[in-house]
Amino acid sequence: MDLWHCASVVTGAASGLGAETARYLAEAGARVTLIDIDAAGVAAVADEVGGLAIPCDVADAGAAEAALKTAREAHGAARVLVHCVGRAHPQKIVDNDAPMPLDDFRQLVEVNLISTFNMTRLVAADMAHLPRGQSGERGVIISTASGSAYEGQSGEAAYAASKGGVVSMILPAARELGALGIRVVGIAPGLFGTPTLFAMESNLDSRVVHSIPFPQRFGDPAEFAMLVMHVIANVMINGTVLRLDGGYHR
Ligand SMILES: NC(=O)c1ccc[n+]([C@@H]2O[C@H](COP(=O)([O-])OP(=O)(O)OC[C@H]3O[C@@H](n4cnc5c(N)ncnc54)[C@H](O)[C@@H]3O)[C@@H](O)[C@H]2O)c1
Repeated sequence: MDLWHCASVVTGAASGLGAETARYLAEAGARVTLIDIDAAGVAAVADEVGGLAIPCDVADAGAAEAALKTAREAHGAARVLVHCVGRAHPQKIVDNDAPMPLDDFRQLVEVNLISTFNMTRLVAADMAHLPRGQSGERGVIISTASGSAYEGQSGEAAYAASKGGVVSMILPAARELGALGIRVVGIAPGLFGTPTLFAMESNLDSRVVHSIPFPQRFGDPAEFAMLVMHVIANVMINGTVLRLDGGYHR
């Protein structure tokens, strides 16, 4: 897909993997809409890359629909969605004899899983009206899972379950939306040096890094953005979740 002037939406764009992806897309000439619940943060990144900032809670159906309408009016319907919104909050199922509040579980599922489905359905409905490109493609939707979907740690039951839902959604969504010329792909990062990582792994130490086969360091958000760019370019990548973790299995 030619990214020159291509309408693209990045969520979670105020920080970490989403912010770096927005930088790469803008550098390639795309018209980038940056969405995040952090209004000041997303405005700063949008300013830096020359994109459109929209503060929005993407788990909220009405707010996300309004945000995409604003994006569509500015840039046209998106051919690329990179959904990087996510939140991590380690919490025990039973802590000091008390059960984890069910609303805490619900909140992580809202932010990580429901937001992914919400953005997928809204963006795909818009993409369906776009003319097909040279390869017959209308667009690509890339969502962010996590290595925790496969090997969640103690204290990660809610986060892992929410990301497991993202992994499970990719293939059936690709099967359905393929008929419309829309690809659906997931990326499951390992350990990347961003605020989410440090929220999840409060006691990160050198032993964690040494358990990564190679390279023994945190991933750089640029390495995530590079994979996003390849997925966009390579039309054969579809219906799969790509692990990006240096071989790290928790
Ligand atoms: N960093 C890692 O090591 C790692 C590992 C595995 C998976 N991930 C996943 O990658 C994605 C990006 O994470 P990151 O490391 O860049 O985190 P980050 O904290 O740097 O960025 C996440 C962004 O999402 C935004 N956000 C949160 N809830 C939102 C909502 N409801 N609506 C709109 N915006 C919202 C935050 O404001 C923040 O800017 C997340 O889905 C995360 O779970 C990260």
